[in-house]
Amino acid sequence: MTAVLPPVDLRRIVKLAEFEGLARAAMEPPAYDYVAGGAWDELSIAEAEAAWRRRRLRPRVLVDVDRIDPSTTMAGSRASLPIGIAPMAACGLAHPEAETAVARAAAVAGIPFALSTMSSHSIEDVAAAAPDGVRWFQLYAQRDPSRSRGFVERAEAAGCTAILVTVDLPVLGYRERDIRNGFDLSVPLGNFGDIGPDHGSHRGSADSGYDIVAGEIARGLVWDDVGAIRSWTRLPVFLKGILTAEDARLAVDHGVQGIVVSNHGARQLDRTVAPADALEEVVGAVAGRLEVWADGGVRRGLDVLTALALGARGVLVGRPILYALATAGEAGVARALDILHQETITAMALLGSPTVADVTRAHVAG
Ligand SMILES: Cc1cc2nc3c(=O)[nH]c(=O)nc-3n(C[C@H](O)[C@H](O)[C@H](O)COP(=O)(O)O)c2cc1C
Repeated sequence: MTAVLPPVDLRRIVKLAEFEGLARAAMEPPAYDYVAGGAWDELSIAEAEAAWRRRRLRPRVLVDVDRIDPSTTMAGSRASLPIGIAPMAACGLAHPEAETAVARAAAVAGIPFALSTMSSHSIEDVAAAAPDGVRWFQLYAQRDPSRSRGFVERAEAAGCTAILVTVDLPVLGYRERDIRNGFDLSVPLGNFGDIGPDHGSHRGSADSGYDIVAGEIARGLVWDDVGAIRSWTRLPVFLKGILTAEDARLAVDHGVQGIVVSNHGARQLDRTVAPADALEEVVGAVAGRLEVWADGGVRRGLDVLTALALGARGVLVGRPILYALATAGEAGVARALDILHQETITAMALLGSPTVADVTRAHVAG
């Protein structure tokens, strides 16, 4: 899966963006394209990053920043930074240890890790690899509700502490790179051992990952189904993929514990409003009645603090983690999380915010 390249001196990597080129050199081109790509013209990929970077900070001075505490809770789970690792399908495309390596690095760093329904390794294997880490499960609601329920029950039994229901993928986005490459995610998917002939190893077009998306994912999922999903578990339920105040209010009405302001890394609908730009509208609409996170284009500690200032409780980071995994496995992910830690505590000190609770709307202009 990965090319043999000289080892990378991880200490010389100082920002997440540097992992991308290294990952590109290490990965098969169609796998890299699957990770890096988006939908249609991919306009929303660059815009997601730009929307964080456009915001300007308003630092306060002469605040005692001798001790910085960047820890918080997300969905009631402890987090050493206001950051979780976004759910990403088929991490085995980046490294053979896949989600187990990411989960181990995350556990050591105290960062929650969201496991995708479409993970390479199973819910149970990832739990066994990092039993002490905070793990969440991301649900793609299945056409057969009993299958969805089975996933949720397995996740809860395996020690996951929140369920993130992804609501922006009734169908797959128009992903031109994958179409051109003939890429159909025909790689082992750990949680689907009961589908197809090859128990957990989905190879061949008859049961590719894209076929599972097309065939098994519930296109008919509607707001009325949210209550059923909530009834299956005692865990907090978040809806991932909200971009409007209207849907945020519906999420409140349907009793979920939180939402993730997200456009799925620009892999679904292109030309959406950037998550960073949608965040404040959503925060205003929910008025503190549920927890709000954001993802898409978060690359620097400065982005994290901008999100907090705009009212998010935390953020998720996606592609850079897969790039770090492709670069150097668990050690690469550990380095990426360490960089985020250093950047975040430095920015908190310079912003005059020794704890995450000290970051307020007044810390960002506009
Ligand atoms: C390769 C890849 C696979 C993804 N798979 C999933 C998935 O299985 N479930 C999901 O809810 N989101 C998935 N996402 C979206 C991420 O959870 C997240 O919303 C997005 O990557 C955040 O943007 P960023 O990559 O710019 O940080 C995936 C993203 C990537 C890049």
